[in-house]
Amino acid sequence: MSVGWRTPVCDWLGIAHPIFGFSHSVDVVVAIARAGGYPVLGLAREMPHEIPQILRAVDARMQGLPYGVDLMLPSQVPQAGDIGEVRAALPAAHQAFVAGLRERFAVAPPVKPSFFTSQVRSEALFDAQIEQVLASKATGVATAIGLRGDLIARAKARGKLTFSLIGSVRHAQKAMAMGVDVLVAQGYDAGGHTGMVGTYSLVPQIVAVAGDTPVLAAGGIGNGAQILAAIAMGAQGGWLGTLWMAAVENHTPPALLARLVASGSEDTVITRAHSGKPCRVVRSEWIDAWAEPSALPALPMPLQQALTGDVFASIHEHNDARLIYEAAGQSVFAIRGSTTVAEQMRDLVAGMQEAGQRLHGFARSKD
Ligand SMILES: Cc1cc2nc3c(=O)[nH]c(=O)nc-3n(C[C@H](O)[C@H](O)[C@H](O)COP(=O)(O)O)c2cc1C
Repeated sequence: MSVGWRTPVCDWLGIAHPIFGFSHSVDVVVAIARAGGYPVLGLAREMPHEIPQILRAVDARMQGLPYGVDLMLPSQVPQAGDIGEVRAALPAAHQAFVAGLRERFAVAPPVKPSFFTSQVRSEALFDAQIEQVLASKATGVATAIGLRGDLIARAKARGKLTFSLIGSVRHAQKAMAMGVDVLVAQGYDAGGHTGMVGTYSLVPQIVAVAGDTPVLAAGGIGNGAQILAAIAMGAQGGWLGTLWMAAVENHTPPALLARLVASGSEDTVITRAHSGKPCRVVRSEWIDAWAEPSALPALPMPLQQALTGDVFASIHEHNDARLIYEAAGQSVFAIRGSTTVAEQMRDLVAGMQEAGQRLHGFARSKD
C-alpha cells in the first residue's frame, strides 16, 4: 500500500508531496512548506524596499525548508517610472473614463501606501527586485510573463533552481534554451496572466518537448485527482495558486472570500482591465464595467496599473463587496469556504490517494 505519490522532483527538491503552491502571502508559504509542499512566494506586488525584510522573516520561519520566490518580468516596460509622472502622461480620455467609474461606484481613495498606488513596473524596479531575489536564501527562483536569460544564469550560478511559467511550446523551448530547470506548464484555466491553451492540452505538449526537464502542471487544479491526472500525463506535480485564497493564512478580505465561495469556473474571465495583459480574474462589477460597450480598451502594461492601481488597492482595503476582484482560475470551483493550508494539503494528498486507488480498481490483468 503506497503512502503517497512522489515524483523525482520531490527528491530533487527535498519535499514530501508533488504539490507546488504559489502565493503572495508569507503565512501561506510557510504553511505549505510545513505541510510538505514546495511554496513559491510571489514578490511582484511588494514594495521593493520591503522585500529584504520580508525574505528575512520567511527565512526565520522556514527553518531550512526549501522554498522559491517569484517575479513577473515583462519586457516592453519603461527604463524607469515615477508614478506621478506616468499618471500625468496617461491619455486624457482614459483618465476621464476611470474618474467616471470612480464616481459611479463611489470608490473611496486608498489610505495605505502599497505597490499598486506607488509603483510602476519598469526595468529599474525589476533590477532592484532581481538583486534582492538573488541575494535571498530561497532555493528556487520562478519567473512569469518574461524570460530573462541573464537572471536564469545568475540564479543557477548561485545554486538556485529556476522555474519558468510558460503557456506554449514555443516559450517552453525558449526557456529550455536559456537553461531553465523546471517548466511550469500554465494553462488557460489558470488564475493570473495566462495564454490560450487549456492545461489538459498544454501539459502533454510540453512534456513531449521537455526531455529530461521536469514539467509541473498549473491552471484549474483544485483537487488531488487533478494532480494525479497531471502526473499521468507526464508532469511531475501540480502548481496551484487560486486554492490558497480560501486559507485563513491568506488573510483574504471577507468580501473576496465570499465572492470566491459563490463563484464557479464560469465566473472567472480573462480581462486586460487588471494589468493591461490578459489576466484571468474572478468577475466583479469593476471588471464587468470594462467589458461594457462604452468602455475604453485597457492601456498596455504597465500603464493600466498606473491608471487603476489605486482602485484595486482601495477595493481590497475597504473590502468592497460590489467591486472586489482578484486573479483567480477556473479552479475556483474547489473553494467552498474558509479552511487552512494544512487541511488543504491533507485533502490534496488524500485526493491523490483516492484517485490512485480508483485507477488501480480499473486496471485489468490479462483475463
Ligand atoms: C491571486 C493570484 C496572483 C498571482 N500572481 C502571480 C504572480 O505574481 N506571478 C506568477 O508567476 N504567477 C502568479 N499567479 C499564477 C500562479 O502562479 C499559478 O500559475 C496559477 O494560480 C495556477 O492556476 P490556478 O489559479 O487555477 O491554481 C497568480 C495567481 C493568483 C490566483
